[in-house]
Amino acid sequence: MHMIQQPLRQFSPREQTHLARYAADPLQKTTTTAPVEYLTGRAEFCDFVLAVNKTVLIPRIETEELVALVASAISEKLSSESAKLRILEVGTGSGAITIALARQFETKWSKLEFTASDISQSALVLAQKNAKQMLGTDVPITFIQSDLLENLGSQTFDIVVANLPYIPSARIATLDESVRDHEPHAALDGGPDGFSLITRLLDTVLPILKPNASVFLEIDHTHTKSYFANFVKNGWSLQLSKDFANKTRFAQLSPPV
Ligand SMILES: C[S@@+](CC[C@H](N)C(=O)[O-])C[C@H]1O[C@@H](n2cnc3c(N)ncnc32)[C@H](O)[C@@H]1O
Repeated sequence: MHMIQQPLRQFSPREQTHLARYAADPLQKTTTTAPVEYLTGRAEFCDFVLAVNKTVLIPRIETEELVALVASAISEKLSSESAKLRILEVGTGSGAITIALARQFETKWSKLEFTASDISQSALVLAQKNAKQMLGTDVPITFIQSDLLENLGSQTFDIVVANLPYIPSARIATLDESVRDHEPHAALDGGPDGFSLITRLLDTVLPILKPNASVFLEIDHTHTKSYFANFVKNGWSLQLSKDFANKTRFAQLSPPV
């Protein structure tokens, strides 16, 4: 039988740099299309390096901008509130967002409490490992397994941040094979219009928000104002902003007063 040989993978300059930094064998010969981050088990995010595996999404550069938006809201609230600020991340994956925020505000830990949740127990195991590695054991982060807000009880928060799956289901098949064939679809697929989980979150978040709370979301570029129309009609304020590629990518919402 004649076997067709797969061509060896040609790594891009970015991938070569990543392998040179983190791989035991930077010149590896392979046919896999997996992201280099899964080959090395390491991903760069903000100014640090996280452990990743195939149970979590590799944190994206756009999400660093979401961290910056939330960080500036935390700074503002820290200067005006005397009570502890409570921050919830829904869908934490590798822990990237919460760990980045906790790192930025290391000198203010006595005034902050973070909660990070995910539906995936294996993601939470990794997120906890990353938090311990980056921040030590005294870090003020509580990890909770939960389908959106289901297991959060009656706690209330000043800030809710979520980078939930937001890709419309039909687009998954068209994604680059490194994403489509290797990253967890449960971290990508946001339902028919990509907005299913975001709608479920916004429909249920009000009871856990403190007065003057803010909700920060990473969204798909197709999620224009009309997707939020029902919430705006019910008195929510909405601000959409773009990422570095000039695509609509973030939503900030505040509940009706
Ligand atoms: C796009 S990934 C984001 C991961 C990480 N926060 C980041 O920015 O890199 C979405 C995450 O949401 C989680 N997720 C999916 N459905 C969920 C649900 N119903 N409740 C809570 N988390 C969910 C996935 O397991 C995944 O870790």
